[in-house]
Amino acid sequence: MATLMGGMSGVPHRPVLLLETLDCLQPERGGLYVDCTLGFGGHSEAMLEASPETRVIGIDRDRTALEWSRRRLSRFGERFRAVHGNFRDIARHVEEAGETAVSGVLADLGLSSLQLDAAERGFSFRQDAPLDMRMDAEGDEETAADLLATLPEEEIARIIFEYGEERRSRRIARWIVERRERGEPVTRTLELAEMVARAVGHRKGERIHPATRTFQALRIAVNRELEGLSVFLETAIDLLQEDGRLAVISFHSLEDRIVKQTLRRLSGRCECPPRVPVCSCGARKAIEILTRRPISPGESETDENPRARSAKLRAARKLSFQS
Ligand SMILES: C[S@@+](CC[C@H](N)C(=O)[O-])C[C@H]1O[C@@H](n2cnc3c(N)ncnc32)[C@H](O)[C@@H]1O
Ligand SMILES: [Zn+2]
Repeated sequence: MATLMGGMSGVPHRPVLLLETLDCLQPERGGLYVDCTLGFGGHSEAMLEASPETRVIGIDRDRTALEWSRRRLSRFGERFRAVHGNFRDIARHVEEAGETAVSGVLADLGLSSLQLDAAERGFSFRQDAPLDMRMDAEGDEETAADLLATLPEEEIARIIFEYGEERRSRRIARWIVERRERGEPVTRTLELAEMVARAVGHRKGERIHPATRTFQALRIAVNRELEGLSVFLETAIDLLQEDGRLAVISFHSLEDRIVKQTLRRLSGRCECPPRVPVCSCGARKAIEILTRRPISPGESETDENPRARSAKLRAARKLSFQS
């Protein structure tokens, strides 16, 4: 277990927005809950503790996380089941577990500190490692180094601009491609971090490392984190029984925007661009939104866990009939 904990100080942080999430999901009511992003199993553990009638299926695409949580939650016996897979396939995972009615779905998006702190996974610009960044380390997706070695320059620039919201994306992409044309492609985290720092320069008053945005962008691209998020949310809502709950925690504005728009659309509000004559966004009244504004962590939580700072929780309740 010590190796799994990597460079961490001992016990993992308290799960992000734990009490707020439980408040939305109400696991004390019993029934089946699907934790789509099992990670350390912190949220799952709290849901299982809420009632002896509560069962949890935990999905994660990272086998190390699954192994960790399986051990942590073994005391719950058959009430807990861990599944390796992508939450995009939630409907299949629920069906394969022989279940039909779902009381709640949780998605705590992004990376766990288990992944961030494990130097060899290549997510961190502070530790030298191959530029991997795959959440499913044995999966067949391409690594970040593969993307930088093969994608056209404009595509690299687009990824860094869109997913990293980095203004100097073109310059960074140029430098990356220049190096690979010289036969020296960027393959390691520190190489990339230093190159980006030089390409971007120091911005006055900026507190984050200059490579933060580029690393975020590559990670999103490698793991296809935004593709299918909206379809996943809609599938999850369709799986919920009446009064079932959905809670989603996101960590950056692109994710939060998709969650916000999808929930609005499924609460019956048309999200079509202005002046479209006929609604084609698929708006329907399947849910009631429980969070008019997203819920953010309080100061005591962010003091204890600075990574919680950007977390935003949105939740919804399934309605009895749809129109
Ligand atoms: C922020 S952590 C979850 C932490 C967890 N709530 C806890 O209390 O420990 C996110 C986890 O979701 C997993 N993950 C991210 N995207 C996924 C996807 N599309 N399918 C399955 N798992 C995913 C990651 O591998 C990571 O372990
Ligand atoms: Zn519409």
